[in-house]
Amino acid sequence: MGYIEATRRQKAIFLTGMSGRRAVVPFHANELREAAKKRLSKQAWAYLAGGAGDELTMAANRDAFSKVAILPHVMRGDASIDFSTQLFGQNLVFPLLLAPIGVLDLVCPEADRVVARACRNVGVPFIFSNQAGTPMEICAQDMGPAQRWFQLYWSKSDELVLSLVRRAEACGCGAIVLTVDTTLLGWRNRDLKLGYLPFLRGMGIAQYTSDPVFTALLDKGEGAAISGTPRPGVTLHTIGNLLRLKANYPGGIFKNLLRKTPLEAVRLFVNIYSNPALSWEQVRWLRQQTTLPILIKGILRADDAHKAVDAGADGIVVSNHGGRQVDGAIPALDALAAIRKAVSKPYPVLLDSGIRSGSDLFKALALGADAVLLGRPYAYGLAIAGQQGVETVIQNLLNDFELTARLAGCSKVSEIDTDMVLRT
Ligand SMILES: Cc1cc2nc3c(=O)[nH]c(=O)nc-3n(C[C@H](O)[C@H](O)[C@H](O)COP(=O)(O)O)c2cc1C
Repeated sequence: MGYIEATRRQKAIFLTGMSGRRAVVPFHANELREAAKKRLSKQAWAYLAGGAGDELTMAANRDAFSKVAILPHVMRGDASIDFSTQLFGQNLVFPLLLAPIGVLDLVCPEADRVVARACRNVGVPFIFSNQAGTPMEICAQDMGPAQRWFQLYWSKSDELVLSLVRRAEACGCGAIVLTVDTTLLGWRNRDLKLGYLPFLRGMGIAQYTSDPVFTALLDKGEGAAISGTPRPGVTLHTIGNLLRLKANYPGGIFKNLLRKTPLEAVRLFVNIYSNPALSWEQVRWLRQQTTLPILIKGILRADDAHKAVDAGADGIVVSNHGGRQVDGAIPALDALAAIRKAVSKPYPVLLDSGIRSGSDLFKALALGADAVLLGRPYAYGLAIAGQQGVETVIQNLLNDFELTARLAGCSKVSEIDTDMVLRT
């Protein structure tokens, strides 16, 4: 299908409106969020929409965009457009990728596959999450030749890290995005209030349970207990959740009913999934292990950007994880200019956290990003209308961007520079 040009879609939408039909997927980000909320359980909503602490950073991510004004040029005398861009020798039709979002199965079954197909159809790369509910190989197969990258979390087992990287290489991922801001889980009040962590229900651990190194560790009995925590008491709730875990685990409820493996896999996951001792040394080591470009996701300081370059990373993603990790952290957009100054073009700098509209994308590019990652909004589209919902959310954002850029007198990405914006 591919991208449908803004004026064509605009006309189609208005003509359809003549027959009294309205778009199912809301255009405005706030309405999109509210429509998604109505379709999700309170646990799924808390996990998806929530942030760390008082969610100040989550709100600040949005405010930051409203403090940047676009300075449009008029009458440039050229109606041709090409917003394609190159990253690591890969051609992107627009400077947009879908961010890795873990545990999308909270939204609908086989969610990662649904999103993968949507990306293939629209022509926007998908970054597979390390916490996906479907193994990367299956999503890759669904995407055919369409672009995908793999997001990596560094676990306590370097062997597992390497295994995930090898699998990403083998299934055609074009880059490794190492997320470094989640070596521990942020203090997320909404999830804590509900006592709900989806991984304990066997959700979001498919990259692990499909991994030969992880399953070998399981076979060795490494999932016997969760280190340092008491076992929960047995109540009707515990039994219900155990059954849910068995149902979520590969093979389904009938195959897993009498097996201990699902519970052991969750225990093993909890023991090894994060590595608070992660350092730049490991990035240097990873650089030796693969020829794929490596991006470091979660950079908010110029000095850390320098360290990423020194450690051999090929790009960075300026991100505060959508306000889910350090509440009070600087909005990603506010961190961008200093980072761009520290690592000058053509070193690839991407940004996420707060992108909700075409004009947000424009502002991020103008302040120095080479591309942006779209996060929560596509999950909201997924909740509202499945694959069609994700495609529509992407299309709407790109159409909005196309018109914003054209109306600001820019016909290509290289024209969207600091001269096009003003901090108000
Ligand atoms: C529910 C949820 C799950 C996420 N899971 C991951 C993940 O598995 N890996 C990762 O690198 N980032 C993850 N992120 C962060 C996103 O990649 C991205 O940085 C963030 O969504 C950007 O903020 P925004 O959605 O508010 O624009 C997650 C974000 C959300 C909302």
